[in-house]
Amino acid sequence: MKERAQAIRRQFDGDLAAAASPAALADLRLRYLGRRAGLLTQILKELREVPDSERGAAGRAVNELKTHIETGLATAEEVALRSTAGESDRPAGIDPTLPGLVWRPGSLHPITQVRHLVEEIFLEMGYTLGAGPEVESDAYNFEALNFPPDHPARDTQDTFFVEGSDLLLRTHTSPVQIHTLETSHPPIKMAAIGRVFRRDSDLTHSPVFHQVEGLVVGPGITFAHLKGTLERFCGRIFERTVGVRLRPSYFPFVEPGAEYDISCLFCGGGGCRPCKGSGFIEMGGAGMVHPAVFEQVNRRLGETRYDSESLSGFAFGLGIERIAMLKHGIDDIRLFYENDLRFLSQFPA
Ligand code: PHE
Repeated sequence: MKERAQAIRRQFDGDLAAAASPAALADLRLRYLGRRAGLLTQILKELREVPDSERGAAGRAVNELKTHIETGLATAEEVALRSTAGESDRPAGIDPTLPGLVWRPGSLHPITQVRHLVEEIFLEMGYTLGAGPEVESDAYNFEALNFPPDHPARDTQDTFFVEGSDLLLRTHTSPVQIHTLETSHPPIKMAAIGRVFRRDSDLTHSPVFHQVEGLVVGPGITFAHLKGTLERFCGRIFERTVGVRLRPSYFPFVEPGAEYDISCLFCGGGGCRPCKGSGFIEMGGAGMVHPAVFEQVNRRLGETRYDSESLSGFAFGLGIERIAMLKHGIDDIRLFYENDLRFLSQFPA
């Protein structure tokens, strides 16, 4: 009996080593452990015929065989199960050792970030936010702003006209002043940010760019209020104390009109390369609202809502790109519009 158990064991070891697939293992299980015709069942039956004196030893041998077959099969089945599961998780041609995809969070465009900052500052200073259309009529972009009919700014060199109409792409945000005067009542404190368009393209000029417009109208508004407002706003935007210098200049819709500069952010006023040795950096245009602008609006409204005898106002404008370029030390405006991630990813937030 002992020899017979050893023979079956050898046979089983050989069969198990040859069983390559889960199906072959299932066959094996049936052949050895099958209830009816399995080899083990058979040998257990034979045990009954063994004489009493030998039965103890024979029983132990058969039991050992049974444990050997059961553990051998169980181990092989588990190994087979694991390797087939692994294979179905991993389609051919995919290398699971390669590094995974990394999802990098996006960020707001640097222009949008400056835009939000500017809006926040004006809201803090008690301004309302205004807006107007990007496609304007000649009336709002020029006429109501006191541009004479032959003003050179209307020249096709500067303005994109919409063919076959009197419409154009606004060349500045100043028409928002007119929309605001028409839809509001004094006192007014309004700031507007928006896209403007000019036929202009080089390192510091883009055919599409953004401006901020500010308009304050009320009794007793003076040039001193304008200067204080510019100092406050520019100081907040660049996060330091800046000096503001006003230089006489001409814009048809303001009188007196000025261009304003801030003390150089890089040298503080001593003179350096970015300020071309002047100690100042140009920021934008500003001035006191021209009485002719109030008159134009009154005429369109058919009422004297703005009486230049008892009311006055100031207005100012500046470019958002210019602020972003100064804040971040960028020297080519076109970088803002190329959407190159190597540039944009430098402005997380
Ligand atoms: N709109 C003018 C420009 O684009 C700037 C400006 C705004 C000047 C308000 C005076 C008052 O150049």
